[in-house]
Amino acid sequence: MDYLIGAVLKESPASWRDFVMTDVSDVDDARSIALIPSDTNLTLFEREVSKGDHEARLRKTVGACLTEAAETYDIVLIDSAPGLSVLTECFLRETNFYLSPTRPDYISTRGLKFLREFRQRNPEMGFGDNLGVIINMKDPRSPQDEHFDHWLRQDPEHQCFQQSIPRVTPLQATGFISPHTRSYWAKYPGETGDQLRRLTLELLSRLAPAQGDTLGAGSAPRAEGKAKAMWASWKDRRTA
Ligand SMILES: Nc1ncnc2c1ncn2[C@@H]1O[C@H](COP(=O)(O)OP(=O)(O)OP(=O)(O)O)[C@@H](O)[C@H]1O
Ligand SMILES: [Mg+2]
Repeated sequence: MDYLIGAVLKESPASWRDFVMTDVSDVDDARSIALIPSDTNLTLFEREVSKGDHEARLRKTVGACLTEAAETYDIVLIDSAPGLSVLTECFLRETNFYLSPTRPDYISTRGLKFLREFRQRNPEMGFGDNLGVIINMKDPRSPQDEHFDHWLRQDPEHQCFQQSIPRVTPLQATGFISPHTRSYWAKYPGETGDQLRRLTLELLSRLAPAQGDTLGAGSAPRAEGKAKAMWASWKDRRTA
């Protein structure tokens, strides 16, 4: 928030790099994850942007930030709040790809439709490529969830990921960062860890073809190769 306020509203020469927190994961072998946190003042900031007609400056700031971040990081993920705010729109227009995590329920399917319509409006303004829909929070015992899962997968425009993520207890606590590091399998035990890795692999393989096109420095294939090696070594350990 302080970065955006400085760069967009105060036109001060702020750098996003000053706001990066490094080494934020509580998973012991995930040491290269960095984070820029947001806060609840985001809505107030967006109000100021709209009031002062600063949308163009915000978009320029967001675009520069993404371009610079791609020089340092293999993958940059922007977690947006639900709904299409001024800031979310800037990210959607400046990003290489967007990804839609979705619950298999009616409201979420409406949300996807709305996003599609929004994208088709003002095509000259640019938009990220659709990387696909990830079905999350699926109740394996609910015929209703199964119905919406089916419905989502039928539409080729959604490009649903094969791996969906069920509603499970270990994922209810992921927002809680443990003060002590733990292994991946302690945080995501059994089948959950397995499913998240398969999903990651699918994501990396969807990113891989973009290398040399929109992503710089061969980062996605490198990450995909690493994920595949990790997957193979885990499978070896499991069968041993
Ligand atoms: N597959 C899952 N199984 C169980 N709990 C989950 C699962 N996925 C997410 N959760 C839990 O649901 C809550 C909301 O998840 P998350 O933050 O991913 O949703 P969101 O749609 O991004 O929410 P928000 O609208 O607040 O941004 C979190 O407490 C998270 O731990
Ligand atoms: Mg969220």
